[in-house]
Amino acid sequence: MPTIPISRSDRLFILSGAGLSAESGLPTFRGANGIWRNHRVEEVASPVAWARDPEMVWQFYTWRREVHQGCRPNPGHQALAELESKLGERLFHCTQNVDSLLDQAGAGRVVHMHGRLFWSRCDRRGCPQPPFPDERGYPDLASIPGCVCGGRIRPHICWFGETPFHLDEIFRALASSSVFLCVGSSGVVEPAASFAAEVKRHSGARTYYVGPEVPANRDSFDECFQGKAGEVLPELFQPARKTAAAVCAKQEN
Ligand code: OAD
Repeated sequence: MPTIPISRSDRLFILSGAGLSAESGLPTFRGANGIWRNHRVEEVASPVAWARDPEMVWQFYTWRREVHQGCRPNPGHQALAELESKLGERLFHCTQNVDSLLDQAGAGRVVHMHGRLFWSRCDRRGCPQPPFPDERGYPDLASIPGCVCGGRIRPHICWFGETPFHLDEIFRALASSSVFLCVGSSGVVEPAASFAAEVKRHSGARTYYVGPEVPANRDSFDECFQGKAGEVLPELFQPARKTAAAVCAKQEN
């Protein structure tokens, strides 16, 4: 079984993608099941699609909310949540996933750069109403709520052509990381696809990938561990767990 050695001075950056949640039953975007009604995700997750056909966009996210209801965290989520509690501030976990499975596994400090599936917001730029938790489905145009400002309620998701959330915080964390691990991402969607190259160039970090297929940005990784997240991750940080436990014990003494 592969392992990633982490010393007491290391700072770890994790980037997770759709593959992390695949074993929980959530389809990935670009795998064999990575389509919805024969649309590519780029065709339903964009401001252009929203302007042209908000009903279709909400049907896509209504479907995704429904699929999520039956899903539970898998051992990959649990391993990352455990790592968070062991490493504390020395771990920065950024996910491209909009699902809630990391939260359900107990990982409370994850940064969601592509938004949240169970949040919605007004589509008007400058509307003062903040995003809000929302688990409902909107199957047709008539059911989509309006905002008090006159805008229309949309999913709180970063669509193609929009700027991801928390980028300042993410790039600060990349600059101070010495170990980078990407899990379950095909490496084609920017800016996340360039994080491994960025952290290598600026911090000289060691870079690792976990997933069953070789990602498109393979050249940015020192090592690729081929396998499923739920099988590889629980073993990957055995030495890290010991190191972190040793650090905690030292601090308590
Ligand atoms: P993709 O669907 O592009 O890639 C998923 C990756 O997960 C593939 O490379 C698979 O090989 C891998 N995979 C499949 N099963 C796995 C498993 N059990 N364990 C580990 N890996 C596995 O997903 P992302 O790269 O995350 O954005 O996609 C990036 C963004 O594209 C998404 O966040 C989404 C989408 O458009 C938005 O919605 C804004």
